[in-house]
This record gives sequence, C-alpha cells and structure tokens, in this order.
Amino acid sequence: MCRYYKYSSQRGQEQTMKKLAILPALAAILIAICCGSVAAQGPDPALIETGRKLFNDTTLSGSGQTSCATCHPANGHTDNKTYIGLDVVADGDPKGRSTPTLWGAGTRSAYSWAGTAPSLEANIRGIIVNRMKGAEPPPEKLAALAAYVRSLTPPGNSNIGNDGLPTKAASAGIQRGFDLFVGKGGCGTCHVLPTFDKKEAEDVGSGAKFKVPSLWAVSKTGPWFNDGRYKTLGEVVTYMWEFQSKKAGAPSTPTSAELADILAYLDAL
Ligand code: HEC
Ligand code: HEC
Repeated sequence: MCRYYKYSSQRGQEQTMKKLAILPALAAILIAICCGSVAAQGPDPALIETGRKLFNDTTLSGSGQTSCATCHPANGHTDNKTYIGLDVVADGDPKGRSTPTLWGAGTRSAYSWAGTAPSLEANIRGIIVNRMKGAEPPPEKLAALAAYVRSLTPPGNSNIGNDGLPTKAASAGIQRGFDLFVGKGGCGTCHVLPTFDKKEAEDVGSGAKFKVPSLWAVSKTGPWFNDGRYKTLGEVVTYMWEFQSKKAGAPSTPTSAELADILAYLDAL
C-alpha cells in the first residue's frame, strides 16, 4: 500500500512536471500566432519607432555602454569591423565574426554567419544575452527590435531592380556581369535572386559550413567572409569563381575582363 502510494505520488509529480514543461511551448506558440498576425497586417509604425529607440539604447547591454547602433551605425548598416563578443579583433581571426549590414535583413533566408538562428527574434535575443551580456529581453522588446530591423531596406538604385536584374539604365558592364553571375560563374545557384542568399548553409572551403550571405549592398560590407579575411571584393569573387568552377569539374580563373564585369554588377547591388 505504502509502496503503491509512493509510486503513484511520484507518477503524479512526473505528470505535473510534464504539464509544466508544456507551458513554455504553449507560450511560444501564442507568440508565434500573435507575431504572425502582426506580420500579416503589415508593419506597425509605432512598433518600428519603439524598436528604433531600443536599437540606440545602451541599457540593453550589461555594461550600459553598447547599443545595437554601436556596431550597426547609419540605420543598421555595418561598422566594417570584426568582433569576438564586444572586442574588435584582427580581420581574418578564425573566431572573429565580421558585422553584417542589416539593410534588407527582413528578407534574409537565414540569420547569423552560421545560419543556425531559427528566427530574427531568436537571433536578436542571442546577441543581447550572449554578445552584449544584457538582461533577458521581454518578448515585446524583441518584437519591437525585429520590427525595426525588418523596416531597414537597402537604399536601392536606378541600375538594379528589386528582382536583382539590371534595369535598362544599367551599363553594358553591369549587364555582362549579371550574365556571368547567373551563367558561367555559377554564382546564382547559391546566391539566389532576388535575396541573393538561400536557406541551406554551404561549405565553400572557408573552414566550415556558413550561410550563403545576401549580396545586396555588398560593396559596402567589407571586410568580407564570416571572419573578415578578405579586404577586397576582387579577391572574394576570384576565390568564389575558382571554388565553383572546380566544383563543377572545369577549374578556371576569371579573366580580368570577367572579374571587372562581375565587380560592376556587385558594385551596383
Ligand atoms: C559588438 C558589435 C555588435 C553589437 C553591439 C550588435 N551586433 Fe548585430 N551583429 C554583429 C556581428 C559581429 C554579427 C554577426 C555574428 C554572427 O553571425 O556570428 C551580427 C549579426 C546580427 C544580425 C544577423 C544578420 C544576418 O544577416 O544574419 C542581426 C539581425 C543583428 N546583428 C542585429 C543586432 C541588434 C538588433 C543588436 C542590438 C540588440 C545588435 N545586432 C548588436 C555585431 C554586433
Ligand atoms: C556553393 C555555393 C556558393 C557559390 C556557387 C557561390 N557562393 Fe559566394 N558565398 C557562399 C558562401 C557560403 C559564402 C560565405 C563564406 C564565408 O563567409 O566563409 C559566400 C560569400 C560570398 C561573398 C562575400 C559576402 C560577404 O558579405 O562577406 C561574395 C561577394 C560572394 N560570395 C560572391 C560570389 C560570386 C561572385 C560567386 C560566383 C563566382 C559566388 N559567390 C558563388 C556560397 C557560394
């Protein structure tokens, strides 16, 4: 009897624990439904404004000294530096990560260089708690920051349309560069238009699998690659061309004319 009682009370406890364990999952589902419906209604200007203020708020960090804008100045762009935590390190340090631009971040297929962050909100939470050593942010702060980040679009220009294709105004070099990008260079298989990225991470021989970064505004995001190892876009394009042509079984190096054309296209993005 006593034994049975012990057993059943233990089971009761286990079941209560199981029920408790369901609560965070339920909360996550509710947040997902609620945020989903906000997205469906389109951006909320008041929420974006709250997010913009938080983005510039140093109290998000443990030290009270760093805001998002410290590393993502000029409305969420990049400071062109490479970091471990909050420390600037030499470009190319294998543990360092170069600051990406947030222009266009609302349309990314994956977040963080590793490409493992499950959502924009989760990515921002990780940055606040792990990188900035700040307090756990409540969901409404995360929602506001994410709304602000989603509102940041690349400036755009008359040479490239929103679909990533050269417009009629584009020079012959930009047009040839586009043809090489989607054709002979094989770039478009990973940097898929119009976002120029894709969901799956790829190993391009740079040390591990990394997400395929978007290339909008890429001429202004150096140093390039996850660890900032490349100082010029020409080096990156040559590396990527050689990697892809080798993978395709016909190793080649871009001619100087081909390189100039792809660079003209990338510079226009
Ligand atoms: C100390 C500099 C620094 C600060 C402060 C900082 N970031 Fe970043 N941010 C980075 C770096 C470096 C990465 C790339 C990290 C990685 O992928 O491992 C990054 C990545 C991101 C990404 C992912 C972008 C993408 O395309 O994958 C988002 C979104 C982002 N930051 C938003 C924010 C927000 C919002 C804040 C403030 C809460 C913030 N960052 C504060 C340096 C910083
Ligand atoms: C197999 C997939 C794949 C192909 C094909 C590919 N890339 Fe990439 N690209 C990547 C990945 C992954 C990275 C990030 C590597 C890293 O950070 O270590 C990258 C990085 C880049 C970057 C640097 C972006 C930044 O913000 O640092 C540029 C520029 C670029 N690629 C251009 C090209 C061009 C031009 C071609 C065609 C000649 C091309 N890529 C072909 C996967 C690919």
